[in-house]
Amino acid sequence: MKKDSEGRMPLELTVGEVAQRSGVAVSTLHFYETKGLIRSWRNRGNQRRYPRVVLRRVAVIKVAQKTGIPLADIAEALSVLPHDRPLTARDWQRLSQTWKRQLDARIASLTSLRDHLTGCIGCGCLSMEECPLRNPQDMLGEKGAGPILLEAEEQVDVG
Ligand code: FES
Repeated sequence: MKKDSEGRMPLELTVGEVAQRSGVAVSTLHFYETKGLIRSWRNRGNQRRYPRVVLRRVAVIKVAQKTGIPLADIAEALSVLPHDRPLTARDWQRLSQTWKRQLDARIASLTSLRDHLTGCIGCGCLSMEECPLRNPQDMLGEKGAGPILLEAEEQVDVG
């Protein structure tokens, strides 16, 4: 990458330079651009140019993707932040807090799923009524406490 006479990175970068500096493939950068996550402009030679500040934005996108945040959510979160200035520590704090909450919720959901799965090991019933993995919202639980199925069977027998 060419640097200026004082050894600083130029204010605008080619897509190859962004790829090299960020460790993200050119095709991925183009994909990010089609999704509105990053922006470029065309120079007189009709070549894409990116502002230097795009590097921090790409770093944030990569971190968010590592935590499993969907690209659409990342795009939405970044959409309110300007493309022409670097993301600030405050921007990052807000984004990371939001994504941490999402990550916590996902961990809780996966932990619950794992615990239910543990109960299913060796069972194999896959019952709509009894298996927590088939009945994740606990539909029977919404009908109230007690032997709901037994009471239902008794009503059928009697009725
Ligand atoms: S398979 Fe029987 S409880 Fe899930």
